[in-house]
Amino acid sequence: MAFRIHLLVIYITLFLLSVYHINAFKLEKNLGLKVPSLGFSWENCGPASDPIQIKTLVVAPDPIHVPGNLSLSLVVAIGAALPTDIHVSVTMEKKVGGFYVKVPCIDNFGSCTYGNLCEAWADACPKYFEQFRIPCKCPIPADTYTIPGAVIKIGGHLPSVGAGDYRLTGDLGSSGTHLGCLRLQITLKD
Ligand SMILES: *[C@@H]1O[C@H](CO)[C@@H](O)[C@H](O)[C@H]1NC(C)=O
Repeated sequence: MAFRIHLLVIYITLFLLSVYHINAFKLEKNLGLKVPSLGFSWENCGPASDPIQIKTLVVAPDPIHVPGNLSLSLVVAIGAALPTDIHVSVTMEKKVGGFYVKVPCIDNFGSCTYGNLCEAWADACPKYFEQFRIPCKCPIPADTYTIPGAVIKIGGHLPSVGAGDYRLTGDLGSSGTHLGCLRLQITLKD
């Protein structure tokens, strides 16, 4: 449970947003094939006109340990004030035998769409990010925000999809506009 919350908190945080009400996760275990780890990488996957653009993103350790302490450094440019009705559509894929296999949305974990991100952000932000003068309430004003090294405690244990390489794509929008897209490559180990 705690792991799921934190994985997504980390993820959406990258957009200065967060998701929290995530429940049981009941996917079958993968085949356990050993493939070389790819390590952490990231990219903005939306158009350059998106108001949310990540400039720098560093996490340590790599692979990310679950449970463990994750250090996160981030610079994100917000080009226009973000609206209050923000949703994110997450695609989660796990690398199995050299191919990415989509993890379906089950009990709000996996490739799901989440609405009301401003509310979730207001809940999760103060614990980690207020100290860096990151706004914890929407609307988030246009600015360049820097998190120089937040330590996020990841509790719990790996979900049943287990250790390995994942690709996470988050597409953010509001009723009127596309806001941003971030794709992450992460490796999890216990
Ligand atoms: C995370 O850091 C805290 C404080 O330094 C430490 O007490 C805790 O044992 C660490 N947790 C893990 C899982 O390494």
